[in-house]
Amino acid sequence: MKILVLNGSPKRDKSDTMHMTRAFLEGMNDFCENEIKTIHVIDSHIEYCTGCFACKHNGGECVIDDDMKDVLEEYISSDLVIYNYPLYSYGMPAALKNLVDRLMPLSGWTMQRKRDGKYGHSAQKDFSQLHYLMMCGCGYPNSKHNFEGAVRSFELKFPENSTVITIPESPMFNIEQASQFVAPRLEALRRAGREYAEDFTIRDDLMKEICSPMIPEEIYAQFANGERK
Ligand SMILES: Cc1cc2nc3c(=O)[nH]c(=O)nc-3n(C[C@H](O)[C@H](O)[C@H](O)COP(=O)(O)O)c2cc1C
Repeated sequence: MKILVLNGSPKRDKSDTMHMTRAFLEGMNDFCENEIKTIHVIDSHIEYCTGCFACKHNGGECVIDDDMKDVLEEYISSDLVIYNYPLYSYGMPAALKNLVDRLMPLSGWTMQRKRDGKYGHSAQKDFSQLHYLMMCGCGYPNSKHNFEGAVRSFELKFPENSTVITIPESPMFNIEQASQFVAPRLEALRRAGREYAEDFTIRDDLMKEICSPMIPEEIYAQFANGERK
């Protein structure tokens, strides 16, 4: 399948969270060969949405001439979009959130009730084949509540065909001394990618394993505070 990775980390390939996505994609590739394109959002020239709503009345053309035109083309021709990002202030990094705002041309002016009874704009391009994956890591060890805001807004924005993976303590992915704890997690992500490639689902027990802290919260905090070596 055709996969678009939108990397919201300004650290590009060196990002903590991209380790998660790479392991997941390896698993997907174990199942079948995929065509993968990664966009480091920070490198794209994407202006802010001006809120003019011209795109809602002209068939979906944004009046701003910037890289978002190419991003939108890639986006709607993909089968899966992976939103890879570190939790920033309990949400998306600003550059990625800006890109999401600029998805506005995909939907038209008219509003209609969706499957869950809430109103939403109707689509004005065909991207019904799309699946969405949120792959998010964070710096705190807290697995409870930390991701709530980000997950809720992702699920509201992408209510259908979406899957959410959140992993606390993600700076560990870039710490060599932590490899004994990180390696099993990367292996679990690879298994999850393989499962997901089959039918866009991941078993609940595997999901639980992936999203739990890699080491106990208090020990992580002690390392972060320099109280343990
Ligand atoms: C501006 C900024 C805001 C952040 N906000 C949070 C936050 O709200 N909660 C949290 O747990 N970690 C937060 N972090 C930590 C990052 O999520 C964490 O370092 C992550 O592993 C970075 O991933 P990356 O290397 O892929 O960018 C923040 C980091 C930065 C730089």
